[in-house]
Amino acid sequence: MISRRQALTGGACVAAGAAAASLASVGWSRLGARSTPPPTPAPVAPVEPSAFAPLDRLPDPGAPYLKDIASESGRYFGAALRDTLFSDPDFRSLVVRECNMAVCEGAMKFKAIRPNPHVYDFTAADRFLEFTEAHGMAMRGHALVWHGSTWPWFEEQLQGPDKWRVFEDHIRTVAARYRGRIHSWDVVNEPFEAGRYARNGIRRSVFLENLGEDYIRVAFEVAHDADPESLKFLNEFMFSWPQSAPEKVSGALRTLESLLAAGAPVHGFGLQGHLLTQAEVPVDLQRSFLQEVRAMGMKVYVTELDVRDAEAPQDPQTRDRLVADRVRTFLDVVEETGGYEALLTWGLSDRYTWVSEYYPREDGGRARSLPFDEGLGAKPFYNVVRESLTP
Ligand code: G3I
Repeated sequence: MISRRQALTGGACVAAGAAAASLASVGWSRLGARSTPPPTPAPVAPVEPSAFAPLDRLPDPGAPYLKDIASESGRYFGAALRDTLFSDPDFRSLVVRECNMAVCEGAMKFKAIRPNPHVYDFTAADRFLEFTEAHGMAMRGHALVWHGSTWPWFEEQLQGPDKWRVFEDHIRTVAARYRGRIHSWDVVNEPFEAGRYARNGIRRSVFLENLGEDYIRVAFEVAHDADPESLKFLNEFMFSWPQSAPEKVSGALRTLESLLAAGAPVHGFGLQGHLLTQAEVPVDLQRSFLQEVRAMGMKVYVTELDVRDAEAPQDPQTRDRLVADRVRTFLDVVEETGGYEALLTWGLSDRYTWVSEYYPREDGGRARSLPFDEGLGAKPFYNVVRESLTP
């Protein structure tokens, strides 16, 4: 296992293909000696309770925070973080106050860690991990394999004679870097799809096209070999587009069954919750899917929970109610089918959400997709999460 000191010495390392993979297993000092690390960011100071954001906008001032409620039943509440965490002290206080788990919204993705074919740059990812460790939060890793975060040069490599080596090197190097420090990895993210972009419910990604379906099993094996202590998850959105859900559900169940039959180290299913105000959650399908996943003995985490509200009415109260209703329906089904060990929202406050960036409202207003509003006040979404977490 790499020591904490080794882990903190410089974020960027020169990739040396298979050599990088094998060196990663014995530590980073030799690789580090051959690299030109970027300036190390200033250490992140723990946030003192006195610096917490005011509580007067919580529905029940003095109520325990979400992380305390979650930990009463041995569970986690957390959120995806982006680097605004480090520039916004009030937001940071909210995160520290409410979360006992976190995940990087982008810093551990391929595009962030691999700026070019020759470099592994862990600067940003290290900084988040130091932050979570300083505040006693568990860190989820997101994501080792995702078609949505690759560079053209990597996609070219995946078509070449070394395709398996480059595929495995990335997984092994990143997982080994954080060996023993990541609670759970999203090893493969969003491999399922429906319709013409799918083959038997598996997304026609650069990975499927070049490596075949076996890429999923291999990813889990390599990640587990490099970091045996972390839990390994398959992470997917299933019920955001109800019309495509049945085919995705069958693809996911078939894949999980064959992974488990092959003895692959798959420990859990990350059920993303990118819901929509304009679409009902297909609860019967969600229920039967989760029953089957549970019957396989898998853990279930609710990951990436938020609600897209670009098509909802402008009035904030109406919107907040619609958003909260969707979340309640979705979480009710998860609870009915065995519950969850962790619940993470994709962002924590509407101040920072991908929804406003990807799905801007025509009226110019910000999305109201998350438990806390732009001013860091709790919304009905918060109440639903709080009730759901309460044992
Ligand atoms: O880093 C560049 C920055 O240098 C540049 O100035 C800026 C200009 O737009 O772009 C920055 O990159 C953006 C990156 O987020 C970091 O902020 C990309 O344009 C933007 O496309 C990227 O979006 C992220 C997206 O995944 C793609 O990685 C979203 O923030 C993030 O919320 C979203 O998260 C995904 C999950 O990983 C998987 N599940 C779905 C979820 C929502 O799409």
